Order: sequence, then C-alpha cells, then structure tokens
Amino acid sequence: MAAGELVWGAGAAHEAKAGAEWWRSGVIYQIYPRSFADANGDGMGDLPGITSRLDSLRELGIDAIWLSPFYRSPQKDAGYDVADYCDVDPLFGTLADFDSMLARAHELGLRVLIDLVPNHSSDKHAWFQAALNSPAGSPEREFYHFKDGRGENGELPPNNWLSLFGGPAWTRTVHPDGTPGQWYLHLFDSSQPDLNWANPSVQSAFEDILRFWLDRGVDGFRVDQPHAMAKAAGLPDHPDIERAGAGFIEGEASPPMWFQEEVHPIFRRWRAILDSYPGDRAMCGEAYVLPLSFMALWVRSDEFQQTFNFRFLNSEWDAKTLFDNINESFEAFDSVGAPSTWVLNNHDVLRHASRFGGLKIKPTDSDGVGPNDPQPDRELGLRRARGATLFMLGLAGSAYIYQGEELGLPEHTTLAPEFRQDPTFFRTGGKRVGRDGCRVPLPWEAGIGAANGFNATGAAWLPQPDIYTEYSRDHQVGVEGSTLELYKQALRLRKEYKLGEGSFNWLNEYVGPSILGYQNGKILVIHNFGHQPVELPAGEVVASSLHGMKTGHPLAADQTVWLKVECETKG
Ligand code: GLC
Repeated sequence: MAAGELVWGAGAAHEAKAGAEWWRSGVIYQIYPRSFADANGDGMGDLPGITSRLDSLRELGIDAIWLSPFYRSPQKDAGYDVADYCDVDPLFGTLADFDSMLARAHELGLRVLIDLVPNHSSDKHAWFQAALNSPAGSPEREFYHFKDGRGENGELPPNNWLSLFGGPAWTRTVHPDGTPGQWYLHLFDSSQPDLNWANPSVQSAFEDILRFWLDRGVDGFRVDQPHAMAKAAGLPDHPDIERAGAGFIEGEASPPMWFQEEVHPIFRRWRAILDSYPGDRAMCGEAYVLPLSFMALWVRSDEFQQTFNFRFLNSEWDAKTLFDNINESFEAFDSVGAPSTWVLNNHDVLRHASRFGGLKIKPTDSDGVGPNDPQPDRELGLRRARGATLFMLGLAGSAYIYQGEELGLPEHTTLAPEFRQDPTFFRTGGKRVGRDGCRVPLPWEAGIGAANGFNATGAAWLPQPDIYTEYSRDHQVGVEGSTLELYKQALRLRKEYKLGEGSFNWLNEYVGPSILGYQNGKILVIHNFGHQPVELPAGEVVASSLHGMKTGHPLAADQTVWLKVECETKG
C-alpha cells in the first residue's frame, strides 16, 4: 500500500474528553454470580464468594463490576426470571451478604452496577400469581399482557409473535376447574411473562425498585432488554414473521414489540431518579437497537449513560468489518455526546477465545456450540482473542470484560446434553444448544476440588471441561506473558495514558485488509490481520498480545501491539 493512501476513505475521528464522568471511560467487569466463586460449596456461586474474591478484581485494574441477577428467582432463565426484585435468592445469600459485598467493593474503590430485569418477571412473582387468580380485565391482569385467544373458542394465540427462545410467545392459562382461559405474552420463556409498561402502576413499582437499590448504595444498573418493554398498542401481528422470526431486520420498519417510542419517557424518569442521588450513578441499557445511529437515541443526555455496543460485539474479526464498525460507533455516539462502549463477551455469547478459533458463528446467535458441532482451534482462538482484547482496550470510551476472559477461557464446547440448563435448549428440542458453554464456573486454583478452586467441595452447577485446569488463575498470576498478566498490564497502561478518556484517529498507513492501526494520544495500536509479519512505525513497544515482543520487532500474524510515540498528532 502506498504511504498515505486511504483504502476505505478517511474514517471517523474522536476528540479526547478530559475530566468527564467515570462511566465515559470506565472498565466494567461482568460477574455472573452463579459461576464466579462459591463460598458455601453447594456448587452455585454466591455473594459471599464474590466478596471473598474482590481483591483479585482490584488487582486486575477494573473500575466497576456489573452483577447478573441474584434476586429471588425460580432460576428458569438463570435468574433473569425474577420473583422478587427487592430480595436476594437464598442460592446466593441474603440482603446482608449483598450489603457486605457492596461495602467491600466500595472499600476497594470498585463501583457496583446490578442487573435490572424490567421487561418480564418470573411467573412466580406475586404480581403474576395475583393476575392468574384474578378475572379477565382486572387491575391485577393489567400488570401483564393477558388477552383472549383468536379462533372460535379462543384456541389460537392472540397474535403471531414468537419467543426469542423458540416456540410461540403466548401461553394459555388454565382455570382451577381445568377449562382454558386467557393467554399471556412472554417474549422469552413461558416462565417469564412480559410486564405491561403502558400501565402506570408497573412504572411506579419499578421506580420504587430503583430507589430501593439506590438507597442501599448501588452505583447503577445494567438494564435487561429495555428495547422490548413497550409494545405497540393493541399488540398487532408482526408484519414480517417469516423473514424476521422473533426479531427484526435492520433497516426495515420496526416490529410491534421492539424499540417503541414509549420507552423513552420511562428512561428519562429513571435518569432523573439516578441524578437525584449523589455520586454519578449510571445505567447501561442492553438495547439491541441497530444501526448505532438509532441506538444513539437511547443515550441522549437525559436517558441511559451507556448502551452495549452490539455492532462491535457482533463484528467478525476482520479488518474491514472493524474499520466500518468502529467508524459507525464513534460517529453515532459522538453525535449525542455519549461514550461508545466496547465489548467482546458476555453471558449470552460464545466466548471470544473460541469464536475467533475458526468458527463460523455470529456471537449473538446464542445458539452455542455442542459436542456434535465443529470444534474451535484453541490455540488460534486464544491468540486472536488476546489480540482482539488489546485492540479493544486501547479504544476511547468504556470497555466491558466478562468474567474469565482475563484467563483466556475458551467456551465449554463439549458439554453433554444432560447438563444443559438454558431454556433455549429445551424450547428448541436441543437444536440450539444455547448459552451454557460460556457460563461455566471459573477455575481459580488448579486442583483444588474438582472445580479448581471455584469452591472447596468440587460441586459445580455446570461441570468444567478438563482443559480449564490449564487456565486456572493461580497458574497465571505473576507469570510473564499469561493472559491474566496481559489484561492487568493493558488495564494499567489504559489508565496511565488515559486511553478511556482519549482520542481516536486511524493511522492511515496502517489501514487495509491485513492491518488496522489507530492512535490514541501517545499510543499507537496496531493489529496484524494478515499472514505476513509487518514492519512497524518508530515507537517503543509498551504492550503486546504475544509475549516477548521487543521494540523494533515486526508485528506477527494475529498480533496487536501498543507503541508509545512522543507526538500526539494525528497519524
Ligand atoms: C438478556 C439477558 C439474557 C436473558 C434475556 C431474557 O438478553 O442477557 O441472559 O436470557 O435477557 O431476560
């Protein structure tokens, strides 16, 4: 490529924002409570387990944690089916355990965001039980979407909507005498009835829930499925069910259950509640809304502070895709003055150390990989995953890390069917194996119990694959070149060079099908997507995704490097 040639046009640029709020640049670590650490040895992670391991997160160098649900729940969807929004499930401990965890996190300088699940409750929630026991048309039923069926005897569902977990989005109720009754809506499992957000009582009940946790001292919320909360009046048929299934097709008219305008006033009221508390409380919406110019409407200055950048999460590890997606991210979020978030993993997607190991799978398919599917190349996957992470952590904005990725953990891709728990598996008769493979308990100390220090007993709600011993944290602490030390180093340097608050410019001479480079302040970040080594510009190597890289060395295939230069000007 000739010097200065712009293969794909100029691309986006982003200016540094000094002295701004923590959530503009913070690194947030997702804890999946079931699988982080288990203090009582029953095989299920718990809050005391989390508290006992918080020091290790402090050492890692993150700013905040986000906890997936720990509320009272029958656990039909791993806690995303909440039966009491203001209490802790005995599986995870007590409210007092929560308070201790929060206090310890704050002592260590870590903020705590908790998962709020407003689109649906559990069918065991008192609201739903009351609705079931009340007649059609009662205020109790108005908390949810109860409808008469279609057909002569109401035997057909009220509309054609499908569940995201497979099958229809409606279940028919049965009266105590065995006769069939009304239908209720559930965009997810039948144990997760959708709440009726057009009902002011639902709105005020959730405002109370927000205050309950804010009063306890939480620093904010990750909000589950916010784009599903409002439904088009009258619940009309999905106009495009054949092509779009349960979802939507980007760029085409929005289906009646996704991203309706009516959600925005709700989030504005939530934002006002957060802002009425001291200490920069924040909300991140799991708003699956694309393109990002549309998602940006969710992070206007009086709504969410952040949304998950699903465009980036969905990116194939390919230079042009990333070039486009990063441009789209800065353009969209800068247009409303919000930070972009950067995320490669969460509890719903195939771990990136497996995804990048030669598998043809989109991360958000949530189909998973099972023992009968083609298996990823572990070595290639980890090499690319480390490169991807270092590439991501240099980007200005806020970044998310999902527990275990700092150990380089691969997906459990050979989990036997008898261990499956994800409702997706059951609702599709095993056709989609689901998300259990990224939710397996963490290996802390190799050889401690059968679950490598997840607890003392070795019990585990999902068994670890044998290979997890190799990834145990104790095998990596202080070991030069380990994935854990790479994450620590990157997070330390990210702070030192203020990369989160920093700027962004493409390095035009390092943009093309086999190489991608950008500058953030004094740091150049370059990744080699090709097969040949690439000569680097002058600069001191301060971090590298492959161990042993020295200043002056060329950049190997799948490798990312951070080079320190003296001049902060545009590349
Ligand atoms: C979100 C959660 C996912 C859950 C779903 C339904 O996408 O991340 O785990 O199954 O919502 O609550």
